Amino acid sequence: MIEVFSDNDALNTATAERIVAAAGRAVAERGAFHLVLSGGETPKPLYELLATPEWAYRLDWRNVHVYWSDERCVPVDDPRSNAGMTRRALLDHVPVPTAQVHPLYLGGSPRQAAMDYEALLRRSASGGLPRFDFVLLGLGVDGHTASLFPGTAAVAERQRLVCELYLPEQGMHRLTMTLPLLNQARHIVFLVAGAGKASMLQQVLSDVVDSAGQIPPARLVRPVGGELEWLVDAAAASNLHV
Ligand code: 6PG
Repeated sequence: MIEVFSDNDALNTATAERIVAAAGRAVAERGAFHLVLSGGETPKPLYELLATPEWAYRLDWRNVHVYWSDERCVPVDDPRSNAGMTRRALLDHVPVPTAQVHPLYLGGSPRQAAMDYEALLRRSASGGLPRFDFVLLGLGVDGHTASLFPGTAAVAERQRLVCELYLPEQGMHRLTMTLPLLNQARHIVFLVAGAGKASMLQQVLSDVVDSAGQIPPARLVRPVGGELEWLVDAAAASNLHV
């Protein structure tokens, strides 16, 4: 389902409402809310909104467990760190227990970090497949989401839940949740804003393949038995006929 909002404020307010509602359902049904956040620029105003007094009290942060869909393998104080951005915008301003915040990368070998995170997730699901209550994802202009970049082995991974990848064009290792893990979620929301995403959003929501027969990785996000929503602003939706 796709919903278009007139501007960024309306988009972020609607997304925040969905997170609050999902948290209420999860805590009522299972006593906890397992939330996966994304990085990049788009979600930052949303995180800052959730940190405001008007919103922060609407989530019982004692019951919230925070994960990331992906991470750049840089120190948390590096401006490129997704965990660092999320802490500055949100987590440093709300009473979420430290033990319930699970950063993807704390230094060292990317492969070891991916294996350690997967082990953490499998332990939390008693060895099964973790089913997150809410996953917030973004969309790159190349069709990536999380760090599932087109043409990388991470997109094709169907066994591991978390894997490492190296992006030569960025000169950087990244870690990412894989599709088998993401698609277990109860509720996935893509948050997309800005005219720069309009072309790729149209491609992702169509069934077009590119000249090489590739499809945008974001189109492979299809929660099994879960809800998928695209929450977008009017600029990003400018190529859509909705
Ligand atoms: C990351 C994100 C990534 C992001 C898209 C969109 O680590 O970069 O997790 O998947 O959602 O690249 O980024 P923007 O919101 O900055 O356009």
